[in-house]
This record gives sequence, C-alpha cells and structure tokens, in this order.
Amino acid sequence: AAATRYEAEAAACTGTVDSNHAGYSGSGFCNGSNAVGAAVQFTVDAASAGVVSLAVRFANGTTAGRPADVLVNGTRVTTLAFAGTGAWTTWSTSTLTANLNAGGNTVRFSPTTADGLPNIDYLEL
Ligand code: GCU
Repeated sequence: AAATRYEAEAAACTGTVDSNHAGYSGSGFCNGSNAVGAAVQFTVDAASAGVVSLAVRFANGTTAGRPADVLVNGTRVTTLAFAGTGAWTTWSTSTLTANLNAGGNTVRFSPTTADGLPNIDYLEL
C-alpha cells in the first residue's frame, strides 16, 4: 500500500509550528522547544496489527546530534540520533520499525538532551 504521511504541523507539537526554513512538506514543521522531553506526538492508524517501517523527516542545522526516544503507545522502541543535516533547510529521513496495534497508535519523539528535537517535518508509514 502507498505510504500515509502525517504532517508534524497537524500533530501535537511541544513548541511552535514554523515555516521559515524551506523544503518542508505541507504547511510547516514542528520546531520543538529546546528542552528535554519537548516532544512531538503523532497518532497514526494501522489497518492491522504488525510490524511496520516508519520514516521521520527532519532537519538539524547544528553540528550536534539531537537524540530522541521513540515511544510507540507509551513504550520506548528505540532512540534516534538525529545527526546534523548541515542546514535548517536540508531535510533528511530516519527510519525505524515498530509493532503497531490495529487502529490508532501514538508515536512520540521525545528528546533526551536540552537542545530538544530537530525540526520535524512529517512521519510516514
Ligand atoms: C534556530 C532555527 C529553528 C530551530 C532552532 C533550534 O532558531 O531557526 O528552526 O528549531 O534553531 O536550535 O532548535
């Protein structure tokens, strides 16, 4: 099946929805607050239970990684590094796999350092 895209500007963004760095999809991106735990949370739908691949698009215009835990339905499944992409206008994609329930699932990106999240554009699965 074709991927479904969930725009971060429609998700729960602990910060602001901005549009000042070109190259994003939709109408903007989530600029999370620069703080531990300043998360963006998506609610995604799965037709059936099982393991799926998730892709998250982000930009990090700094040279330091912005690591974040990924919690699916409240359980941590991995930590993504969100390395620097070279510029705030340079967007990259990280992938992970997760086991989803049939129906609605929460996917939360929760930063583990005081720099917070990179800018988050969308989640696709
Ligand atoms: C800059 C940039 C923001 C980014 C922020 C950050 O202010 O313009 O888009 O979110 O840095 O460091 O998180």
